This record gives sequence, C-alpha cells and structure tokens, in this order.
Amino acid sequence: MDQLIEKIVEILKQAGKIILECEIDKDKIIQKGTANYVTQIDLEVQNFMVDQLRRLVLESNVITEESADNQFTLEKPTWILDPVDGTTNLIRGYRHSAVSLAFFDHQKPVLGAVYNPFNDEMFTAYVGSGAYLNNKKIQVTKNQDLEDCLIAFGTTPYQRIQAAKTFHITEDIFRKCLEIRRSGAAALDIVYVACGRVDGFYEYSLQPWDYAAGMIILAEAGGLSTTWQGTPLGVLAPSSVLATNGFIHKKMLDYVNH
Ligand code: IPD
Ligand code: CA
Ligand code: CA
Repeated sequence: MDQLIEKIVEILKQAGKIILECEIDKDKIIQKGTANYVTQIDLEVQNFMVDQLRRLVLESNVITEESADNQFTLEKPTWILDPVDGTTNLIRGYRHSAVSLAFFDHQKPVLGAVYNPFNDEMFTAYVGSGAYLNNKKIQVTKNQDLEDCLIAFGTTPYQRIQAAKTFHITEDIFRKCLEIRRSGAAALDIVYVACGRVDGFYEYSLQPWDYAAGMIILAEAGGLSTTWQGTPLGVLAPSSVLATNGFIHKKMLDYVNH
C-alpha cells in the first residue's frame, strides 16, 4: 500500500512539473464549450499520466477527462484522472489548479490523490488508513452551526442554463453562514473540506474526474460526500455533489433541495 501511494506521489510530482514548466501556447487552446477550455498542458499531463499509470498497473482502465474513448466501467482496475482540474485558473495564472487521481479495484475505492503544484500541496488517502496533506494527517472540522461555517461552491460553469438554482441556494446559504468561496477547482474544494479549510462544498453537476479522488480523501478525513439527494456518489456518470464535515450535511441537504 505504502509503495503504491509513494509511486503515485512521485508520478503526480512529475506531472506537477509539467504544469509549472510549460508555457501555455494561447494559439493552441481549444474551446470545448462556454468558458470550457483545454490547453496543451492538459493534454501533455494526461499523456504522461496515462502512460505511467498503465505501466504501474498493467491492463488497467484509465478514465480521463480529455479522452474521447473512456470506458465508464469498473470491471478492470480503474484510474479516474483529471489531468488539470482548474484549467481556467491555469490559463489566467491564478495558481490554483490540481491533478486529481482516484484508483478503484474490484469495483471499490482504493486511493485518492490531489496535487496542487503551485503550492506543492499533496493530498492523499489510502482507504482505511486516513487522509494526509504532505504526509500530515488531516481531519474535517467539527463545526455544526452554519454561522461558524465557511462554505465553498461551484458554479457548474459549462451548464449556465442551471445557474439560477445554484445562485438562489448560494444566496440563502450566504445569509446564514460565515462566508462563501468559489475557487475554480472542484477537486481542491473537496480536499479543502477534508483538511478543515472549509466546512462544506456543493456543485450542481460535476464529472467523476472532478470528485472521485476528493470523495475518497474526504471520507478518510471523517467527512461525507453524497449527491444533492443524499444518495451515495457513483463514479461512472456526472452527478451533483455535496461534500461536508458530516455535522452540517443534513442542514446543507435541506438548503440544496429547497
Ligand atoms: C472544473 C472546475 C470548476 C468546476 C467545474 C469543473 P476543469 O473543472 O473543477 O471548479 O466548477 O464544474 O468542470 O474543467 O477545470 O477541469
Ligand atoms: Ca475538473
Ligand atoms: Ca480538467
């Protein structure tokens, strides 16, 4: 187990180097949809990671954002990868993006890792062994009153038709909670719940590569993530996500559902 995590950490650090060292060629940015871009860095990190992961676990399946032929199944040992979570942040020099990686075997979560190369923060968890930030154990907060809670949310920027729902909910929560944050990288939002920087996070629709690793790390840090209906998160299709310290989960479910 330690060896697998160690290998993953090594690979993610190398992927982080690619992110830090590559200059974005603005002429090569591809627009996939409204405010939805892919840079040559996303593709370079993805190529590097897929190659490394397939060497590490032979015959494994890699589900990854910038691929046209993903196999959405956990039949084989499966990696779920976002080569760059927070591409808009990356393009804008915002320095808040991460590589997000989860591993499933026998249909079950095994490990999650989220690495932000800009501040060299490596979040890891091996199922059953706790969650760590740069090798130090992390835990969710114990806050129970929304008045004490810093809450992050995502705007689901690629489906703006749904914006009213998110922003109504956010106004209600903002009136009640300590303060609100919107970071632009869902994987980091979820691990920020895991390490207690925020108490909760919600987004109307995310892809499995945005939340699979964070979900595993959060559970190991004592937190909880579900859909907005309160059901367990699947990792083979897009989903709403509510990730909290556990104590405010019920209250937050009421907010996102009214
Ligand atoms: C996006 C980011 C963003 C979230 C979007 C995601 P990307 O991922 O996580 O915070 O609001 O829903 O798609 O496109 O930068 O990998
Ligand atoms: Ca993403
Ligand atoms: Ca991405």
